[in-house]
Amino acid sequence: MTFDRSIKIAPPSILSADFANFGQEIRAIEDQGADWVHVDVMDGHFVPNLTFGPPAVKAFRPHVKTFMDVHLMIAPPVDPPYIQAYADAGADMIVAHYEAGPHPHRTLQAIKATGTKAGISLNPGTPASVIEHLLPLCDMVLVMSVNPPGFGGQKFIPPSSVDKVRQVREMIGGDRDIHIQVDGGVDPTTIGPLVAAGGADCFVAGSAVFKGGSVDTPEVYGDNIRALRAAAAKRRGGQSEHNALRASAKSRHRSRAA
Ligand code: DX5
Ligand code: ZN
Repeated sequence: MTFDRSIKIAPPSILSADFANFGQEIRAIEDQGADWVHVDVMDGHFVPNLTFGPPAVKAFRPHVKTFMDVHLMIAPPVDPPYIQAYADAGADMIVAHYEAGPHPHRTLQAIKATGTKAGISLNPGTPASVIEHLLPLCDMVLVMSVNPPGFGGQKFIPPSSVDKVRQVREMIGGDRDIHIQVDGGVDPTTIGPLVAAGGADCFVAGSAVFKGGSVDTPEVYGDNIRALRAAAAKRRGGQSEHNALRASAKSRHRSRAA
């Protein structure tokens, strides 16, 4: 299968989705153009919120026709063997946090060993450079852009999230097939700079997709997804624009410091 560099909108399974109606919610967002379904797994310890165990994820699986990435916000992810349990539940990709334990390399190996795709996630305070030696095991790098991770509806953290996307893209280089996903606070105003920053291609957008809609008015989800896609498309290839913005910010900074 060829690597898909197109813009992907991945609404999360939590948030404004109707908890009693996940099947319908998943069908509604997929019918309305969502590319992936992003499942946020939280343990109430690594992040201050609690969500889905493997049985819940297994129950989502038959409803997901696109691609299901499972974002593990749990620590430690590899012992006990939750990774195998989420793979058995039907994840297409499992993403673990760099900060979740002392052995992120082993965690990625464990994910790969299950036959699912593997991703590594970075909290806002973690620099991009720490994952350089993990990239050969990664199909995706997830840049968290809100704090604390674990809640929807928070404000996007600029400009470090944008800078981090650019740094990750530089580390990946042009010839490795690794997605960059941004999670948290993604809306039509923030998605543009992230694309322009040089290569985020997958966007987790909860509030921005579910806003104003419901399973009874799914066309609102469609409008929201199209608005995100349009804002991203406008800025794709906007690398030079981003560089120019940063250069002018740096020169302003230099002249203030002088
Ligand atoms: C944050 C979660 C996100 C979140 C996104 O920790 O991982 O998936 O629900 O929600 P919004 O788009 O509202 O920031
Ligand atoms: Zn997430």
